[in-house]
Amino acid sequence: MRQDIERIILEPERIAQRVMALGKEISEDYKNKAPLLICILRGAVIFYSDLCRAINIPVKMGFVSLSSYGENSESSGLIKIRQPLGWDPINEDIIIIEDIIDTGLTMNMYRQLLLEQGARSVKICTLLKKPSQKQEIALTYKGFDIENEFVVGYGLDFAERYRNLPYIGVLKKEIYAK
Ligand code: IMP
Repeated sequence: MRQDIERIILEPERIAQRVMALGKEISEDYKNKAPLLICILRGAVIFYSDLCRAINIPVKMGFVSLSSYGENSESSGLIKIRQPLGWDPINEDIIIIEDIIDTGLTMNMYRQLLLEQGARSVKICTLLKKPSQKQEIALTYKGFDIENEFVVGYGLDFAERYRNLPYIGVLKKEIYAK
């Protein structure tokens, strides 16, 4: 897989340090609570499992798979739930754990949906943030700001590949332009 990567932008050690710091911050912010951490499948799964173990207060674990209706979603506000949460969000303090925020549309819609379903609070935690947001997004926790490039690894994929790379790297253009 390494030959398909143009350059590594985040080495495993740097990711691990940042994840530990985020875990500490969340533990302090939510002490005396047991927040429900929702993992957005599949891209966030590696970040999620490391982050959960960097948190030293009790957490509840939930998993959901979403897809938005692309450009249409902006006007229709529709979100497609491919795999439901299986939890009643009523009165839960929720932190949505996402791999990367690009336009922010999906996260804004999902956050709104959880609030409408009765969640007490909904915060968003993303490992990566690109500058190309179309919407203002209420981000509480962020790992790293990155450039507007297509990245893979540490859970992030291209066509379901590269998720198991231990680092995050920019994918060579010739791979996704094929
Ligand atoms: P958005 O913020 O609603 O536009 O969508 C973010 C989603 O797009 C993420 O959860 C990823 O699945 C995907 N995505 C955006 N940028 C990248 C990237 O650079 N690599 C891999 N997936 C990406």
